[in-house]
Amino acid sequence: MSGYIPVHDPRSIESVACIGTGTIGGGWTAYFLSQGLNVRAFDPAPQQRVRLRANIEAIWPRLAQLDLAQSASIDRLVICETIEEALDGVSYVQESIIEDKALKSALFAELDAKTSADVVLATSSSQFIPSDLASNCQFPERVIVAHPFAPTYLIPLVELLAIPGKSDGAVQWAREFLIAVGKKPVMLKKEINGYIGNRLQKAYVDEARRLVEEGYCTYQDVDEVIVNGFGVRMAFMGLSQYYNLGGGLGGIEHCFKLFGWKGTREAQEDLRATVQKFAQASRWKNLKNGETRTSFVSLRHAALNLKRKHGRPALDNCLRRHTNNGITIQWNKMSIDVSITCAVRVTYPRRITRLFRRSRRQLPKQVSRRPSMVRDPNTGVGTHNVDLYGE
Ligand SMILES: NC(=O)c1ccc[n+]([C@@H]2O[C@H](COP(=O)([O-])OP(=O)(O)OC[C@H]3O[C@@H](n4cnc5c(N)ncnc54)[C@H](O)[C@@H]3O)[C@@H](O)[C@H]2O)c1
Repeated sequence: MSGYIPVHDPRSIESVACIGTGTIGGGWTAYFLSQGLNVRAFDPAPQQRVRLRANIEAIWPRLAQLDLAQSASIDRLVICETIEEALDGVSYVQESIIEDKALKSALFAELDAKTSADVVLATSSSQFIPSDLASNCQFPERVIVAHPFAPTYLIPLVELLAIPGKSDGAVQWAREFLIAVGKKPVMLKKEINGYIGNRLQKAYVDEARRLVEEGYCTYQDVDEVIVNGFGVRMAFMGLSQYYNLGGGLGGIEHCFKLFGWKGTREAQEDLRATVQKFAQASRWKNLKNGETRTSFVSLRHAALNLKRKHGRPALDNCLRRHTNNGITIQWNKMSIDVSITCAVRVTYPRRITRLFRRSRRQLPKQVSRRPSMVRDPNTGVGTHNVDLYGE
């Protein structure tokens, strides 16, 4: 059992510290500020401290365009000259120094010695497990991994890891805190280097390299396959719905029949259950504006970037292309819904809805309308329109 004893309510944290303010630490700093927190930042490199404020000032207008908390202000940033100053009065510390195990362990020993035992100490590390980093700490029960994805101020996911039997309570606390500030945490059940996201990405990277080295294709081909192909749907369907889609009207069960299942029965049951959960989720049955903010992150950012870099016509073209790929885009006064292959309807996040609404006159009245989702009467699982899968 965890020995972590929380003192502060994770939903009303006021001050956090960011130690190391490069790409990731700077991103965390900007994000926490955008959520109305006081941020005390420290980096030993003087030029980095100067750069931090300039970087945040540069991205602030974009953050403002997205979702600033009412109390958010750059004035809540205190750039500190010493680590002690940065730790003064904070309830949560996000460490983001370079990926060096010895350096991070030494820093955690220092953070442990200089903060009270209720302060959660989180690392942004991309691979190390918390047990390793807490080996010199007197209070390891508050040491956790909180691994973000760059750009940290935009991508909502944070992977959380505890030291098994020690910092589980701190991870629970951090989960509540991160949810309260708008992040989407996922907790791993046990420690593993590289966590989930990086391990999945590594599989793609390794296979792409093999295909290129063995002369099957170029990296440009790989990119096109992802960007114009399965990446489009995977971004908001994840893997379980991807499987479900692959089974046509029979859904995932048909997929199992067609391709078999090479893993354990437990993993297969987990996959089935995940498909079911997705089908039963409120977003599936009863869409609400802004409900699926994370799910749509990649298309959202692609859309924002396209509009910013190449203007409105490029965004319209992109939407038309997605429509041809089977994503039906409809909109009304309140929201823009996206149906992919008639199986999944995803609501745009509020902020992009606003963006679209503002320029509504330039959008075509209706891109296309496809018949609604087919739902298996026994399982309640929705499946896709078959012709699309052949496209
Ligand atoms: N870059 C990514 O895409 C990414 C994504 C997720 C997690 N991470 C992880 O985040 C961490 C930071 O990565 P980054 O890309 O921001 O690196 P970075 O090199 O951009 O920044 C590291 C910062 O740490 C500072 N630093 C070095 N030693 C320090 C110390 N002892 N105390 C305080 N600050 C110190 C450096 O001056 C620098 O500003 C790493 O653990 C990395 O694995 C990186």
